[in-house]
Amino acid sequence: MLKTITEGQAVIKAHTGKISRELPVFYNPVMKSNRDISIEVLKTLNKKNRQIALPLAASGIRGIRFIKELPKSIIKNITFNDFDKKAVNSIKNNLKLNKIKSKKIQIKNQEANLFLLQSTGFDYIDIDPFGSPNPFLNNAIQRLARDGILAVTSTDTSALTGTFPKVTRRKYWATSFKNEMMHELGLRILIRKIQLIGTQFEKALTPILAYYKDHYFRIYFQNKKSKEACDQIIKQHQFFLYNPKTLERKISKYNQENNFIVIGPLWTGDLFNKNLTKKIRTKDKFLNIIKKESNIVGFYDLHKIAKTYKINIKSTQKTIQNLKATPTHFSTTGFKTNLKIKEILKKI
Ligand SMILES: C[S@@+](CC[C@H](N)C(=O)[O-])C[C@H]1O[C@@H](n2cnc3c(N)ncnc32)[C@H](O)[C@@H]1O
Repeated sequence: MLKTITEGQAVIKAHTGKISRELPVFYNPVMKSNRDISIEVLKTLNKKNRQIALPLAASGIRGIRFIKELPKSIIKNITFNDFDKKAVNSIKNNLKLNKIKSKKIQIKNQEANLFLLQSTGFDYIDIDPFGSPNPFLNNAIQRLARDGILAVTSTDTSALTGTFPKVTRRKYWATSFKNEMMHELGLRILIRKIQLIGTQFEKALTPILAYYKDHYFRIYFQNKKSKEACDQIIKQHQFFLYNPKTLERKISKYNQENNFIVIGPLWTGDLFNKNLTKKIRTKDKFLNIIKKESNIVGFYDLHKIAKTYKINIKSTQKTIQNLKATPTHFSTTGFKTNLKIKEILKKI
């Protein structure tokens, strides 16, 4: 059903209901938080005169919110693109509905890859498809400015979280595994894959904010055009070794060790640029967990520890306090610490 929807400072007309590729122009309320956070990131980075591209713009809601909610100085120009004529009409109507008329705006009706290739490049590119971002990565990265931001959403979660390890190998060039950390490990596998596409163009893509929420992954990469920085990125592609019997884990350059399952290769660097997350001022609960979350690779899950070692669970909050650990957005019963499992068991 075509409905009038208010999100942030934007009012749009779009279809709601069951999520589907077939729906004419679709508005997904679950992605409100995804769009909210993109506004927080651009606001906090506060770089002026950005050339912004939305190659998969759908109803245009994200771009309309950028125009209405970001300080004017941030946007030099903004291009909405969608290969669906109905989407393009909807973008035009929604801009009118919001009384937006500006020379800064362009609307295109092309296949996203053609749109990107025929452009001169952008400072911010938002890849927000249904499913995997794979088809768009090459051209988005090629057209990303030297110090640009690439934002990527992926709803292709089962392919990254160990349900189909063969699919992970084929599409994301690594081995996944289903365990309590699968969302973090899947996110790190996806980050590495995107970084490898970056390094072939000598673009070092460092995550400044990467998370899993509501069945999708979302990553903001800061680009740096530099061979040396690319080498530094590749150094941080390693394996995550996990012993399901003891819950021991470690990062390793090697893809074999007795009693350990090998996951990856994956990104072992930071998921959050703390200079950025510290500066984000928000009441959003989810972002406030991330603000406190450490950049340690992997986490422990209290339920999993309790089950594995047949012990009673204390509250996650108390455990986090006792261990001087940090919470993690990946799991409400998870916590991040550098302590070994034996040390944790002694303390809880
Ligand atoms: C998930 S929606 C985008 C949602 C939007 N970014 C938002 O925040 O509301 C995906 C959109 O991509 C468009 N699309 C899918 N494949 C495309 C392609 N190859 N080229 C251009 N547009 C494409 C679809 O028509 C659809 O409108």
